Amino acid sequence: MWRLQSEELNLWIYNHTHTDTQTLNAKYHWQSQNVKQSGVDDMVLLSKITEDAIVDNLKKRYMDDYIFTYIGPVLISINPFKQMPYFTDREVELYQGAAQYENPPHIYALSDYMYRNMMIDAENQCVIISGESGAGKTVAAKYIMGYISKVSGGGSKVQHVKDIILQSNPLLEAFGNAKTVRNNNSSRFGKYFEIQFSRGGEPDGGKISNFLLEKSRVVNQNENERNFHIYYQMIEGANTQQKQDLGIMTPDYYYYLNQSGTYKVDGTNDSKDFQETMEAMQVIGIPGDIQAQVLQIVAGILHLGNISFIEAGNYGQVESTDLLAFPAYLLGIDPNRLQDKLISRKWDGKGESIKVTLNQEQATYTRDALAKALYARLFDYLVEAVNKAIQKPCEEFSTGVLDIYGFEIFQEEYVQEGIKWTPIEYFNNKIVCDLIENKLNPPGIMSVLDDVCATMHAKGEGADGTLLQKLQAAVGTHEHFNSWNYGFVVHHYAGKVSYDIKGFCERNRDVLFPDLIELMQSSEYHFICSLFPEKLNTDKKSRPTTASSKIKKQANDLVSTLMKCTPHYIRCIKPNETKRPKDWEESRGRHQVEYLGLRENIRVRRAGFAYRRPFNKFLMRYAILTAETWPCWRGPEQQGVLHLLRSVNMDTDQYQMGRNKVFVKNPESLFLLEEMRERKFDTFARIIQKSWRRCIARKKYEQMREEASDILYNSKERRRNSINRNFVGDYLGLEQRPELRQFLAKRERIDFADSVNKFDRRFKSIKRDLILTPKGIYLIGLEKVKKGPEKGQIKEVLKRKLEFGSISGVSLSTRQDDFFILHEAQYDSLLESNFKTEFLSLLAKRYEDINKRKLTISFTDRLEFRVKKEGWGGGGSRMVVFLRGQGDLAQIKPGGKTLTITVGDGLPKSSRHQNGAAKFSRAPQSQPSEITYSAPNKHGRPPSTAPPKLGSQRAPRVPVHNQNNQGNMDFLNVPDQGMSGKQRKRSISQRPPPAPKPQLRPQGPRCRAIYQYIGQDTDEISFDVNEVFDLVKEDSSGWWTGRHQGREGLFPGNYVEKI
Ligand SMILES: Nc1ncnc2c1ncn2[C@@H]1O[C@H](COP(=O)(O)OP(=O)(O)OP(=O)(O)O)[C@@H](O)[C@H]1O
Ligand SMILES: [Mg+2]
Repeated sequence: MWRLQSEELNLWIYNHTHTDTQTLNAKYHWQSQNVKQSGVDDMVLLSKITEDAIVDNLKKRYMDDYIFTYIGPVLISINPFKQMPYFTDREVELYQGAAQYENPPHIYALSDYMYRNMMIDAENQCVIISGESGAGKTVAAKYIMGYISKVSGGGSKVQHVKDIILQSNPLLEAFGNAKTVRNNNSSRFGKYFEIQFSRGGEPDGGKISNFLLEKSRVVNQNENERNFHIYYQMIEGANTQQKQDLGIMTPDYYYYLNQSGTYKVDGTNDSKDFQETMEAMQVIGIPGDIQAQVLQIVAGILHLGNISFIEAGNYGQVESTDLLAFPAYLLGIDPNRLQDKLISRKWDGKGESIKVTLNQEQATYTRDALAKALYARLFDYLVEAVNKAIQKPCEEFSTGVLDIYGFEIFQEEYVQEGIKWTPIEYFNNKIVCDLIENKLNPPGIMSVLDDVCATMHAKGEGADGTLLQKLQAAVGTHEHFNSWNYGFVVHHYAGKVSYDIKGFCERNRDVLFPDLIELMQSSEYHFICSLFPEKLNTDKKSRPTTASSKIKKQANDLVSTLMKCTPHYIRCIKPNETKRPKDWEESRGRHQVEYLGLRENIRVRRAGFAYRRPFNKFLMRYAILTAETWPCWRGPEQQGVLHLLRSVNMDTDQYQMGRNKVFVKNPESLFLLEEMRERKFDTFARIIQKSWRRCIARKKYEQMREEASDILYNSKERRRNSINRNFVGDYLGLEQRPELRQFLAKRERIDFADSVNKFDRRFKSIKRDLILTPKGIYLIGLEKVKKGPEKGQIKEVLKRKLEFGSISGVSLSTRQDDFFILHEAQYDSLLESNFKTEFLSLLAKRYEDINKRKLTISFTDRLEFRVKKEGWGGGGSRMVVFLRGQGDLAQIKPGGKTLTITVGDGLPKSSRHQNGAAKFSRAPQSQPSEITYSAPNKHGRPPSTAPPKLGSQRAPRVPVHNQNNQGNMDFLNVPDQGMSGKQRKRSISQRPPPAPKPQLRPQGPRCRAIYQYIGQDTDEISFDVNEVFDLVKEDSSGWWTGRHQGREGLFPGNYVEKI
């Protein structure tokens, strides 16, 4: 045993936690969520760890309606006796994937942590829920199941498993729970429920183990308590036919129900619950005829209980033989045989079998034994039915929930691992465990009990007295044992418990007399026979099993199951015995704080290492943090762990390396690791998100291009380099052009924007900025201000706005030129644009959206063009005639009222975009037709952030915002990276392969920056205007490689001039 070195410990705690408490509060508190603070969330942060401080903190929080509090990873839950508002879908969402410290303490946080741990570490998890009767264990278990069911995915099969898992609760509660004085829905059996998962985290199976059903409740109950719920449910809820078939009367008619005089429970609707129980049986897949027989057994037991016995000359006799018929009928057995087996027993002695007649007390005992056996076996059947419905052929991962008392012992682990720490005294329950279950030296209580039972004969008279004597001899001097007149006292962890010795041996024998087994095997109902599968004639005569040996085995099995899992703990606290909300009974609270060992919990957490993990698990969990550990560390595991700890600069006093495990001291150190890990995940998630968006965008563009081609397909020849061109929408960069945006509404979306040539009545061309939005088409020109203070300045003017309603159509030639005429009610506009196909397809879509009819697009080589009426003159129309000529460049020849345009043959009208060709290329590189008509530089200004011209002649035609989308594509908008960033992204797939490692050259080609460029990614360089640097490589994609200030990286070639 460790001894408490209190002075040293206090000093240590003061030094190590006093300041930490402050920083932790500030740093990790979730106040950011505007949740009112009450006490401390994690009692490891209490400045004083006294029982008073703990009780005060819990009380304060409870009164403020915070039922959950942590001690490190242990969750304390106080029964609120009212529905708290924080169990909605909102909380399910809030706690999903969140770190413990991000949100207020909650059972969902623990559930989520378990679930994630299971998935990430590929390790089974279990949660041990402890606390006294009525403290809220079962409710907690249900919240865990509900949470897991909500956050885990799955199709219809998984949904079926989820349904069964959730429905098993009302079913097993109906048969296994009862009203007691302490809890109106007290679980009278222990339960370990495993939810099993697929590798993908879907709950696709499960397993329930049940322990120690309180069978005695079937035959008698204390005052103010009830039998199992199912009895009252059936009596209240059965329909008339069922009532008749089952002989249902009022509950006071039945001896097994009327001993306590309590039939109703506040807030419970037995009739409604009955429907739910039957529904649960249905969901679980119990066939209808078996459901009926389940009820027959339940009713049969009630009627069996009404058979009473009288003493007739030392023998027991059935008081009223009339009462035999109905239970016999319900159980499908012969009433005479039933009577016979209740009042006599076969006794196998020395080779021959004798019939022993029972007295009244023994007959009553036999009746009750039969009732209990029937009920217990029925209960086991129901558990098995649930298990069958959700069993998996092979188990993968599981999360188990134990609704029973539990202890956490981890001091031994420190010793095993050779960890230096300040030991703290705590109550080691082993001493009591040994008292109860030691096999020898001295034998424990259970061993003595089994020995006495083995030598007991048929009637077992006097056995209890012998037991008490033997116990005194064996453990009488044990400091946790006392005896008293009627039994003995054990000093358990939580306090002293007195045991009445009467009936101990008989109960422990737990053998069902072969007579009763035979009797039930004679039932005409196969189902009832199947509950008694013993093979009586062949069974070896070995020492019969006893209740205590069964319990020991069950408990040992359970412990070995739990040992294979990563454990989590919930300690439930019952604040009062009144079952009222906001009622804190100080002494009860304090008592539980004491016996649940909360103070020791906190101290051990603080002094010791809160977090411990085998090296390999640690490496797996945090592998993502460094390149050396991802995807796996090559080298000794311990070194890998150290490497990770150093990579996050963890203070060396914050961890210790054990033999196989790493121990991390304070929660905040762990938070640091977790936070880094989350951040990494976040970064990677963003990268994936980005490329996904890019991929979606590309698909969208491809689709648009296809659609656009459809417009011209078979109607117009195509230009060679337009056919595989990508659509980018905004070629003007409106984001940075407030002078153009001024004509649009604030959030007006840009479908398309480009500089076009507009032809007047005399076929003189002039530049216009054409903008297409969902509201219409804008044509913006530049004019010299004639009056006012800005006189003489060149300003943008909205020359024309065309509403979709007034557009009557568009006409184009059949040749490869870029001309088109927008026909409008008043007059037409003859325009020329390199991106006419893109513009047309977008216009056609918007037009159709608004006018609910298709835009008329006509193709002919004689186009009529109605001109604007101006003053007295003007009006009328012009002709545009297209002729076959030479070359790809259109030659224009105005002549009177006719414009003649000559151009060579383009690609055939049936040309289509070739899939896979030139995907996502940069903005078109030198295109002859553009050279002819485009202004050399947009409005004579070099853009401040936009990349300048690619070739020597053409203006920048780069997208600023890819808003050429249909429908809502807002998700495409990533944070603005400036024009170059966007352009670069489009061309990312065309980047040159990474340049070879730079070689030292005395003097290679150099270049001078004409514009400033800020690198948008880690493989790019940045430079200022006029800076001169090495040009390592030119590439046709436009992304050149340069070396600037010792760094080599990519940059857009058109930002520099070679020198
Ligand atoms: N979180 C909660 N919110 C609201 N009510 C609760 C909560 N926990 C418990 N209760 C109330 O307390 C009652 C008792 O809780 P529960 O049955 O879970 O106790 P238990 O610890 O399982 O007790 P036993 O050991 O007797 O089975 C519930 O029926 C419910 O009325
Ligand atoms: Mg319970």
